[in-house]
Amino acid sequence: MLKIILKQLKVIGVLPVLFFLACNSATDPGKVATPAAKPGQGTYTAVQSVTLSCDTEGAAIYYTIDKTTPTSSSTLYASPISIAKTTTLKAIAIKSGMDDSDVMTAVYTIGPPGKVATPAASPDSGIYELAQNVTLSCDTEGAAIYYTIDGKTPTSSSTLYASPITIDQKITLKAIAIKSGMDDSDVMTAVYTIGKIIATPAASPDSGIYELAQNVTLSCDTEGAAIYYTIDGKTPTSSSTLYASPITIDQKITLKAIAVKSGMNNSDVMTAVYTIGPPGKVATPAASPDPGIYELAQEVTLSCDTEGAEIYYTIDGKTPTSSSSPYTDPINIDQRITIKAIAVKSGMTNSDVMTAKYTIGKIIDLHTKWPFMTGAAAPSEAFNTSNGQYALLKHFNVLVAENEMKPQSIMPASKPTTLPGTYNWTNADKLVDYAKANNTEVRGHVLVWHNQTTPWFFNGSGKDGRATKDELYERMESHIKTVFEKYKGDVLWWDVCNEVVGDDGAIRPASSSKYTAIMEDSGLTGIDRYEFVLKAFEWARQYANENEGTDVKLYLTDYSIETSGAKQNEFARLIDYLIANNAPIDGVGFQCHIQYSWPEVSQISSAIEKFAAKQRSDGKKLMTQVTELDMSLFAYDDKSKTLSDSVRNTRLTTQATRYRQLFDMFKQKYEAGKLDMVLVWGIDDGHSWLNNWQVDGLRTDYPLLFDRNYAPKDAYWELVK
Ligand code: GLA
Repeated sequence: MLKIILKQLKVIGVLPVLFFLACNSATDPGKVATPAAKPGQGTYTAVQSVTLSCDTEGAAIYYTIDKTTPTSSSTLYASPISIAKTTTLKAIAIKSGMDDSDVMTAVYTIGPPGKVATPAASPDSGIYELAQNVTLSCDTEGAAIYYTIDGKTPTSSSTLYASPITIDQKITLKAIAIKSGMDDSDVMTAVYTIGKIIATPAASPDSGIYELAQNVTLSCDTEGAAIYYTIDGKTPTSSSTLYASPITIDQKITLKAIAVKSGMNNSDVMTAVYTIGPPGKVATPAASPDPGIYELAQEVTLSCDTEGAEIYYTIDGKTPTSSSSPYTDPINIDQRITIKAIAVKSGMTNSDVMTAKYTIGKIIDLHTKWPFMTGAAAPSEAFNTSNGQYALLKHFNVLVAENEMKPQSIMPASKPTTLPGTYNWTNADKLVDYAKANNTEVRGHVLVWHNQTTPWFFNGSGKDGRATKDELYERMESHIKTVFEKYKGDVLWWDVCNEVVGDDGAIRPASSSKYTAIMEDSGLTGIDRYEFVLKAFEWARQYANENEGTDVKLYLTDYSIETSGAKQNEFARLIDYLIANNAPIDGVGFQCHIQYSWPEVSQISSAIEKFAAKQRSDGKKLMTQVTELDMSLFAYDDKSKTLSDSVRNTRLTTQATRYRQLFDMFKQKYEAGKLDMVLVWGIDDGHSWLNNWQVDGLRTDYPLLFDRNYAPKDAYWELVK
């Protein structure tokens, strides 16, 4: 029908659109009536049985309770819907040949019975000269009010309120309102003082800072009242010192006084604090807006509560003096800056220094800023979305399991009857699954390591209960094979062996590494004791290739090879041995657990140059990676557990600068084709292993890019600058 009219209107040239809009707002005969719900939406304390109906005969009603818009594919309404919790019910009515109805939405809030409103007293608490008739009332209809006047908490056994309560003396009135089926109200407390009150005494001169001693006079406006006072901070009573003549105050004192007159209520206590002495100190300046991170530039205003004081400030980190820039107009801040300010007034001591740190910048994913792969070690807990570390994972495009792929974490806890036994991949898989879903790569750490490997792996029929070399090799091969069969090409880089070199420029001693011990048991000596490293690389290459991992890159990693010296020399000797024996090694990983003060960036640069120059017999040069970077704020031999604020802040600034210098150097190496990945060992300071290193118990260290609250540190801001 509407269509026909419109057609005709088009023919006769009337504005059809306007007409259509007008028509459509009236009830549309071609449209199904909107369904109705009974009871309607509202707040209920019990389960509701909701009936849906529709005025259009023969229409079918469909509904949803998940906030989605209902369609003819939603649930068909047949019988009352039971709503037991807070629910949004949406319904549509449909009849063929007609337009679908509008969608009805009804929100049901089902909750515990409410709480009775707190009773109110009228007149309110206060001091009244004459007796008062106090009325109690409660906004919850039907609630009964019970009260006490003895200070006790009222209950339903207290006096039931029926008519106004006459109060003619000092009384504390407490009342509660109660209604069955609801929670009792909060307790109302009103204190009434009836009778004449004496005026509070006044002191002259008033509280304040005075250079010289003061004679303080006390007075009271109520004639005939006696004043009693204390100067020891105690509340005065009529047993305190009676005021007779001016009190001489020549040091910092808190003076308290009351006025007393018989037949009247005592006055309130007056308190006056006098500071006598050398000129006071100017108030510390304040900055507005508050220090913090802002996306856009800010105009920072400085102010000082001491009238007439002048403010001087610096933005270069230096302590301000009266020779620094005088503050006149708001300071425009458009980068990361620390404002330090003092306030100065002649005849007074300079204020304390205010420090306000502003960061103007946008948090961007760290890895987008650097050309090399930028990664972090993550514990399996980080992959739980409710963990604070989770939101930070996006800063990295490569992740390594902090512990979860170490031999001990995946291999059977006790010796299996047949190798390899049952491996536990649960925690390691969390990382791999996250990486796959989030366009992130995985680095594998570690296949062969003297540490964090189950003891049975090294036990057997050899000397002193150790495994023989054959037993060990069988287990190493089995382990390496098992890991590659599991992760195939999903883990693109593996630390094949870690920390096989000792600290003093020889192989890690047998006392510290079972690998070395077993090599020595087998009669190997000198450089040949590194045979297990060679074997590990050969097996890793073989099983990578056999399991879709021809692209997988194999690394030898260690600590303290970033600086020249005996350990680095021995590491180089090992690399030469591996190359001479055609080990399929692709690169060297510098752990880089460094400190704020050590080593020089140039040392690390030289180390990268040294190992990137190593060439395999097939002509391929070794790649380098930084695999476990962190920067302690404690020097290596420092055993203290905490740092003072000022030391920490200075070192945090140094740390930020050093992180940036390092990354800039890494970028140069990347551009020269000598380095392709940098990983930090952990996400936030609170979870760094360094909090539990070098000291007995825990210490508070700050080695990473995010702080204990998961907020970016200066080091992060330097890296994204
Ligand atoms: C070494 C290891 C890492 C890790 C750190 C400390 O560097 O290679 O796996 O254990 O120590 O957390």
